[in-house]
Amino acid sequence: MPLRSVDGPCEEAELGFRLSRAAWGRGEAGEGSLELQRKGFTELGIRSAWADTMTVNSRSRRVMEKAGLTLTGEISVPDSICFGGADRGGVRCGIIREQCRQR
Ligand SMILES: CC(C)(COP(=O)(O)OP(=O)(O)OC[C@H]1O[C@@H](n2cnc3c(N)ncnc32)[C@H](O)[C@@H]1OP(=O)(O)O)[C@@H](O)C(=O)NCCC(=O)NCCS
Repeated sequence: MPLRSVDGPCEEAELGFRLSRAAWGRGEAGEGSLELQRKGFTELGIRSAWADTMTVNSRSRRVMEKAGLTLTGEISVPDSICFGGADRGGVRCGIIREQCRQR
């Protein structure tokens, strides 16, 4: 479950999560996302974070929603991704430091 800075020194970071199947359904992705946000916004000084997923990945979208991320736009899914539903594209969700503080 990484928090990856891609835009200069910790300004903006991508939040990602992938759990082994045995760990699904226990709320760990949401809890991990919240902890990564806490670390990123308070210790690492990032200003915003975003996460991408396929439009059809309802479970992942729910995790983002529970972690306080809101929809910021639609994205295209690379042709190299051949999961079912890839043709319906993807979504990007995000959160900024001020939104995290207000929780
Ligand atoms: C996506 C993933 C990280 C979710 O992690 P998790 O710890 O199992 O998530 P949670 O236990 O918090 O459950 C997710 C939420 O989605 C809901 N959910 C589960 N299946 C769902 C479905 N088919 N449709 C809609 N919501 C669903 C759950 O009810 C839960 O919401 P709730 O707490 O309000 O009940 C995990 O399933 C995973 O690693 N999947 C494989 C890789 C992947 O898809 N990674 C994400 C790439 S962006």
